[in-house]
Amino acid sequence: MVLTMDDRDGYIWLDGQLVDWRSANVHILTHAMHYASSVFEGERAYNGVVFEQDKHHQRLIDGAAFMGMKVPWSLEQINQAVSDTLKANGLVDAYVRPLVWRGAERISVSAPDATIHLAIATWPWPKYFPDEVIKNGMRLDISKWRRPSPETAPATIKAAGLYMICTLSSNEALSKGYNDALLLDYRGDISEATGANIFLIRDGVIHTPDPHCILNGITRQTIIRLARERGIEVIERPIPFEELGSFDEVFLTGTAYEVIGVSSIGDHSFTMGDTTRQLAKDYDDLVNRRV
Ligand SMILES: Cc1ncc(COP(=O)(O)O)c(C=O)c1O
Repeated sequence: MVLTMDDRDGYIWLDGQLVDWRSANVHILTHAMHYASSVFEGERAYNGVVFEQDKHHQRLIDGAAFMGMKVPWSLEQINQAVSDTLKANGLVDAYVRPLVWRGAERISVSAPDATIHLAIATWPWPKYFPDEVIKNGMRLDISKWRRPSPETAPATIKAAGLYMICTLSSNEALSKGYNDALLLDYRGDISEATGANIFLIRDGVIHTPDPHCILNGITRQTIIRLARERGIEVIERPIPFEELGSFDEVFLTGTAYEVIGVSSIGDHSFTMGDTTRQLAKDYDDLVNRRV
C-alpha cells in the first residue's frame, strides 16, 4: 500500500497550532490553488538540528515578500515552530516542508487583502535516490522547458508556480527512464535540475551557473565555500550548453538530493570522480556535525 501524503499519522503545524495530520486541510477556493500564490522551503534536520535553519526561513520570508505576502510569523517563531513540529512527530532526522500561501477570501487574480498562512510538515526522508543511483550517478534528460528570465517570472525564489516547468520536465524524464532533467535557461545556457543546482568540473576547476535565474541553493552556497576551503577554484558564470561535452565530472546539490554525481546528461557521459566524492563527504560531515 502506498503511504499518501494526506493519509498519515502525526501532526502538522498550521497557522500556529499543531493539528492532526489528516485535518491539515484548506478550502478548494484557496487563492494559492488557482494562482500559485505560494512559496515553500525544503529543509533537512540531522540528528535534531535543521541545517542552515535561519537561511531557509529568511529565504521563505523574503520569497513571500517578493510575492507581496507578509509572513505573519518572525524568523525566530518559524524556527520554534519547526522545532515543535519535529518534536511532536518524534523525529530527529527528517525533511521539513514549510509552506506560505494566500487564503480563500477572494478568487480573483488580484488579492492584496488575502490572509497569509503558514504550515509546516515534516517526515522521514533518509535518501532521495536509491543506493545504486548514488553509487553509479544520475542520468539526466535535457528538458524542452527553459528556466525563465527574471523579467518573465520571479525566477530566483522558491515560488510554487516555477515548479510547473520542473514537474513537466521531471515527469517526462522519468517516463523515459532518466532520474531527472537538466533545464537550460531562456538564453540556452545550463541552468539547474528540477530540484537541485548543478556543478561541472574541467581540469580540476569547478564551474557553476551564476544565480541570476536559478534558485541560489543553500547547499550550492555551502559547496562553493567547502570547495574553496579545499583550494579548489570555483567559477560562477553563464555556461553555454555547447560547453557541456568539455566537462569531466558533474554533480548536483540540494537539500533533498544532498550532493550526488551525474553519470550522463543526454548523450554526454561523465566520470564519477574524486572531487564529487570528496565534496559529498565534506557536506555529509558538515551536516552531521562531524567537523
Ligand atoms: C529548483 C531548485 N534548485 C535548486 C535547489 C537547491 O536548493 P537548496 O540547496 O537550498 O535546497 C532546489 C531545492 O530546493 C530547487 O528546487
